[in-house]
Amino acid sequence: MGDYSKGVDYRDGGEIKIDDLGKPLSLLDSWISEAKERGLVEPNAMSISTVSPSGSPRSRMVLLKMVEGDEIGFFTNLESDKSLEIAGCDSVAVTMWWPEMERQVRMEGNAYHMERSQVEDYHHSRSRKSRIGAWASSQSREMDSKDDLRKRFEEFESRFEGDEVPLPPHWGGFRITVNRIEYWSGRPSRLHERIVLERHGEEWSQRRLYP
Ligand SMILES: Cc1cc2nc3c(=O)[nH]c(=O)nc-3n(C[C@H](O)[C@H](O)[C@H](O)COP(=O)(O)O)c2cc1C
Repeated sequence: MGDYSKGVDYRDGGEIKIDDLGKPLSLLDSWISEAKERGLVEPNAMSISTVSPSGSPRSRMVLLKMVEGDEIGFFTNLESDKSLEIAGCDSVAVTMWWPEMERQVRMEGNAYHMERSQVEDYHHSRSRKSRIGAWASSQSREMDSKDDLRKRFEEFESRFEGDEVPLPPHWGGFRITVNRIEYWSGRPSRLHERIVLERHGEEWSQRRLYP
């Protein structure tokens, strides 16, 4: 077993200030921009938890690709476990953590399918290899051997040779309407800040929580 006893003494993730309660995700947007500017690895990586048919939470990382109003979005295989779980229960929870900035964001909300035109735009912005990869992977399904994926990749590579790689019907995206967002910032002497914004109909409330 490793030694996990020593914690970090957080210096300063900065004071949390919500400028406009009507724009609950705008601080998230600026934290991601700051993480990008600082050159952090995968500044938009998030853990997303879905609920399985038996009611168990299941988490994995995805890349946040859109922040718009009170919604965030990501792309994935529509036949993957996560997509099937969302079809059964649209409640999801998201966590992001930027250790170098000593900041965490947690979100809870409801996921729904992104419009196809937005998925098309994203698909066509990706590298050719990623677009072929989207055809080749039956995400979350069992694979007999490692070679299978390579073979499928090569098959699709020759099928689309010289042509545009179209959007696979099983590739898509989800938008998440956020109902609760919590901003956490590591502060000196363990006086960490937590600010929770919650939706109540058209309005948003703001509360401070003990860390
Ligand atoms: C940093 C990171 C980013 C990832 N981004 C995505 C993503 O944007 N979309 C996706 O489908 N999988 C992404 N993955 C892979 C997922 O974590 C996961 O393995 C895959 O989506 C299958 O999950 P599921 O079987 O629960 O559906 C990412 C993995 C890592 C480590």
